Parts: sequence; structure tokens; C-alpha cells
Amino acid sequence: MSLRARLTGFGSYLPKRVVTNAELAERIETSDEWIRTRTGIAQRHIAGDDETAVSMAVESARAALDYAKISADAVDAVIVATATPDQGFPATAVRVQAALGMSGGFAFDLTAACSGFVFALSTAEAFIRSGQAKKALVIGTEVYSRIVDWEDRTTCVLFGDGAGAVLLEASEEGDSGILSTHLHSDGAFGDLLFVDGPSTEKPVLHMQGRDVFRHAVAKLSSVVDEALAANGLAGEDIAWLVPHQANLRIIEGMAKKLDLPLDRVVVTVDRHANTSAASIPLALDEAVRDGRIKPGDLVLLEALGGGLTWGSALLRL
Ligand code: UT7
Repeated sequence: MSLRARLTGFGSYLPKRVVTNAELAERIETSDEWIRTRTGIAQRHIAGDDETAVSMAVESARAALDYAKISADAVDAVIVATATPDQGFPATAVRVQAALGMSGGFAFDLTAACSGFVFALSTAEAFIRSGQAKKALVIGTEVYSRIVDWEDRTTCVLFGDGAGAVLLEASEEGDSGILSTHLHSDGAFGDLLFVDGPSTEKPVLHMQGRDVFRHAVAKLSSVVDEALAANGLAGEDIAWLVPHQANLRIIEGMAKKLDLPLDRVVVTVDRHANTSAASIPLALDEAVRDGRIKPGDLVLLEALGGGLTWGSALLRL
């Protein structure tokens, strides 16, 4: 039997401070009604001075290791997806490796913006299948509050901060684990969603929201079709859709396309807003811990982000 990458640990971290739409409406020309109806967002968590991409990643990783009852020393790979590292280098992942007290293994960051977690999961799975790693931490951690222009109402209301992690373990038994991943990018659309710098200017996020929305609907549809076809499945076979949380309207569109009722979709965008690479592991952790996602469930992940990048992953928990 071939090696599979099983998800055995889940963890997440959200900053203590919550900022509501009403609070934003006191500072910029917007309203709770506009933000809710256009995006589904009611509030977001915003990092304080003591909360960084590294500190949040470490908290989420510790929670994932505790969940799996695995010590950090047993981990041989740490892959962090982030578009908002605290430093240009070293990688966020090596800071996490040190903070966890790991004495071996390898660690690196990966940039695929809001698709980062799906790209990192796929990368970690490849290391596990090839035998290069037996236990891998895959983390998404983001502090978009430090790269949005707080005067730009078209972007600043959309994002939040947080981190999520999963532990992958090599397994030759049973049928659970990552069943397939499908990744895509098209740099021709790089200017639709980008951040300046960090070596040239102060990083600031720019987004052509309407165009990204259009691409998201089309590209996410095709990448979930790809996942279903590769596994000989139909939408109704999926127990849970855990999508990237950018906009409730996109999430509802994907549920409809898959013929899934919304109560089989994990939605956190209302409380977390868009936490980019952290949104899927945050949602996964919530739904595993509250008992919605159960062992044996087929779970479909999908995301689209700056690049443009997009991808899907099909898992059996
Ligand atoms: O996670 C990475 C991928 N990102 C995404 O998938 C995001 C995709 N895009 C979206 O989610 C949506 O396009 C947005 C939420 C960003 C925008 O929603 P929209 O329905 O596409 O709105 P719009 O950009 O077409 O703007 C409609 C109107 C505009 O006014 P006019 O030109 O019609 O007079 C905007 O100026 O809404 C205005 N507007 C706002 N009004 C109040 C834009 N932002 C705000 C705001 N408050 N915060």
C-alpha cells in the first residue's frame, strides 16, 4: 500500500482584539450593512503589538501538536504559508521551528497568498509521499492588518489576522489522508491583487475586487470539478466543504455548484473575515473541534488568491 499523508492534528490562534463593522464605520466611509451584504463579514480579529505572524503560528502549531499528542521533536518538516512575514528572512517557519524547540528537520515559507495553505498542504504531502518527511506541520499565518491601507475602504474592511495549523503524518494503513491536490497559477493576472515591496516600498495591498471575484467563481468551479473527477466523485459525496473565506457570496456560489446545503459548508468569514492563508486551517480546526467534521468524512478544500493562484485538496479525515 502506498504512503498517505493523514491529518492528525489541528490548531489555530486568533488575536484577542475584535473589531466590528460598526467600529470601522466610525473611522471610514462605510457601513455595517454594506460590509455584511457584500461580503458576509460582521467582525475581524486584529493583532496587537505582541501578536505577530511567528507568535500566532507557534500558538497554532502547539495546539496541533497537542491535539495529535506528538512532541515537536518528532516533526521533520515545517511549512508556513504567509504573505505577511514579520521579516524578509529568515523564514517564519524557522522562527517557528526554534520556538517549538525542534532540534532537527527542515523549515521554509511558501508564498501563494490566499491559496497558500492549499499549496503548502500539497507540498508537505509530496514530501511525505516521497519519504522525505514523516511528520509535517503545515501552517497558515497572516497579519494583513499590517499591509492594508486603513484609509482604503475597498480593501481594509475585508481582512483579518490569525493562524491555523495541521499536522500531517505518513501512514500506510486505512483509507484516510490527502486523496488529491490540484494547484494552478496564472501570472498574467498578477496585477489584480498584489502587495508592494517589501524591498522597494512599504508593503500595501492593492486589489481589483470585482475582477478577482469573477475569476474566483470561474476558477474555483473548475478546480473543484478537477478534484471530483480525479476521485470519481460527485458534489453530493462531499461531507464538508471548507473553502477559503474571502466572501460569503463566493462561498454560497460554490455550495450551490456542488449541490451542498450551507449546513455542510464551514463558514467563518462572518467572524474572522478574510485571513488569507490562515482561513482554511482556522475553519478546519473549528469544525473538527466542535465535532461537525468527524473521522472518515470526505472534506473538500478550495482557495483562490493573489498570483492569481488557485487550488483544491480532497481529504478523508
Ligand atoms: O482572498 C483573495 C481573493 N479575494 C477575493 O476573492 C475577493 C473578491 N472580491 C470581492 O469579494 C468583492 O468584489 C468585494 C467585496 C471586494 C467588493 O464587492 P462588490 O460587490 O464587487 O463591490 P464593488 O467593488 O463593485 O463596489 C460597489 C460599490 C462601489 O461604489 P460605486 O462605484 O458603485 O458607486 C464602491 O465604491 O461599493 C462601494 N464600496 C463601498 N461602500 C461602502 C466599496 N467598498 C465599500 C465599503 N463601504 N467598504
